[in-house]
Amino acid sequence: MKKILIINGPNLNLLGQREPELYGRETLSDINESLSRLAQKLGLAVDFFQSNGEGELVGAIQRAGAEYDGAILNAAAYTHTSLAIRDAVLAIAKPVVEVHLTNPAGRDGFRAKSFLSGAAVGVVAGFGPRSYALALQWFAWTEPTAVA
Ligand code: DQA
Repeated sequence: MKKILIINGPNLNLLGQREPELYGRETLSDINESLSRLAQKLGLAVDFFQSNGEGELVGAIQRAGAEYDGAILNAAAYTHTSLAIRDAVLAIAKPVVEVHLTNPAGRDGFRAKSFLSGAAVGVVAGFGPRSYALALQWFAWTEPTAVA
């Protein structure tokens, strides 16, 4: 069974109360619970990690490289600033899918730049909590036309 680490960055621990008009009313625990249920249906094993710290996120990505088959990463604001997180994604030989609840490309100009997109296997953005679900489905994809 494939094992996927789902990693969330700064301020995503405040989901539910943080700018709910943008990010919705579901808490991170709500989202993770539904992802656990989806993973079970898809035959995937998932673990979750959240940190507000850049170094801890780098550590989690490295752990995904060593112990998991891939990762789903919402690096939040570090998406737009962090070379260290980009380098961690490049350093591991496992696929990392970049996800966002909102579509950063349609928001403030400074969110249009992602340091991670070029290092990720793909990007899912703009679908709220379903962005994570779509990324998880990619990991479970088994049709012969799949790229991995
Ligand atoms: C986010 C988008 C980022 O621009 C922002 O800094 C976040 C959340 C999202 O999931 O939509 O914290 O990654």
